[in-house]
Amino acid sequence: MDYLQITGGAKLSGAIDISGAKNSALPVIAATILSDQPVTLTNLPNVVDIRTLLKLLTILGGEVEHEAETAKINNATMNSTKAVYEIVSKMRASILVLGPLLARFGECEVSLPGGCAIGQRPIDLHLKALEAMGAKIEIKGGYVRAEAPEGGLHGAKIVFDKITVGGTENTVMAAALAHGKTTIVNAAKEPEITQLCEMIASADVKIEGIGSSEITIEGTGGKPLIFNEPIEIIPDRIEAGTYLCAAAITGSTVTLNKVDAEHINASLAKLESMGCRFDIAENAITIHSPDRLRPVNIITTEYPGFPTDMQAQFMALATMAIGESIIEERLFENRFMHVSELNRLGADIWLKGNIAAVRPVAQLFGADVMATDLRASSALVLAALVAKGVTNVRRIYHLDRGYDNLEGKLSQLGAKIERLRE
Ligand code: UD1
Repeated sequence: MDYLQITGGAKLSGAIDISGAKNSALPVIAATILSDQPVTLTNLPNVVDIRTLLKLLTILGGEVEHEAETAKINNATMNSTKAVYEIVSKMRASILVLGPLLARFGECEVSLPGGCAIGQRPIDLHLKALEAMGAKIEIKGGYVRAEAPEGGLHGAKIVFDKITVGGTENTVMAAALAHGKTTIVNAAKEPEITQLCEMIASADVKIEGIGSSEITIEGTGGKPLIFNEPIEIIPDRIEAGTYLCAAAITGSTVTLNKVDAEHINASLAKLESMGCRFDIAENAITIHSPDRLRPVNIITTEYPGFPTDMQAQFMALATMAIGESIIEERLFENRFMHVSELNRLGADIWLKGNIAAVRPVAQLFGADVMATDLRASSALVLAALVAKGVTNVRRIYHLDRGYDNLEGKLSQLGAKIERLRE
């Protein structure tokens, strides 16, 4: 199994390119199911989750040509509507095929994703929305079986009790081919949702309220969509935020290219409060970091608030601040698995419920640590960049799910990091 070996202490410098956003590419790939004609996607990140979802399309009978950052997908030949356990169990986001499969084929079966390391993560809101559009849903044998009414799904007013990114995405995709108008109230507003809505709108579907918490979609009444233009995946705001943290924790000046600063306002504001400064140009950000960071208080929330997907990385940063930081996780009940691993590196983090107090320490020390989920793993890498001595980060298959060439990009900036195999 691969692991990363990092020798801490190197200052970073130079520039790297940010890859396309995994969390945008996933719903965009799922949305290609809404079409029975070829679709081209560009700026895909080279990460395992993308390959997993493309594989699912081929299992369903679609044709996929995937090379470097581009995929040509043709779902005209799709002849199965069963998203099998073998794929869904590898990646929860496979649930995103539920809405588009149901809308295009009138029925489908998708394995239930189950819980994961960061919490239970139910899909009840996805199912409720599809039921409101007329679907009959049954859970049997570990699968969600969904069936549209005679003639197809119909538009509905859907009020989410809780803001859900995946639930909003599934609903938008199902609504695109439904009969009539669907209004989603309390929709998620993440940039990934905006990209999905813009993709669907580019296929002549009328969508109002893109980027807002109320989205209205006029469905095509069953007619598959045509995407004439290639869809370019937006920059990965979480990857960008992670490299900003890498610069900040090592007291470095680093430039990120191919990035959208608008999407990372919440992280920029927190880094600024910790003493970092920025030069922001079109598609580029340079971060200048102080020798010692100030402490920070963070509460995770939905976009445009502070993202839960950056919580672990900021906790790593906070370990090196000059005072105590408080970090509260409000989205996922179990997203603190990195705490004990950071403490193995010498951090002093105290946890009660969903609140962590991060007390300052003079130095972290290299050790063997284990990645537990995608973003927790990157927090360990960040801590290892400043830890004295050598840190081995194991179980990096979590990192490979979502970071494109992490060790390559960090090496390019001057970090001492190597991928090894035991
Ligand atoms: C997406 C992101 C993930 C990010 C999360 C929150 C992708 C592929 N993943 O995950 O990286 O951490 O948004 O920003 O884009 N919930 C329910 N019932 C549901 C659906 C969700 O109770 O039917 C709850 C979840 O358990 C969680 C909260 O709602 O507490 C938000 O989850 P959601 O926004 O749906 O996250 P994902 O789409 O799974």
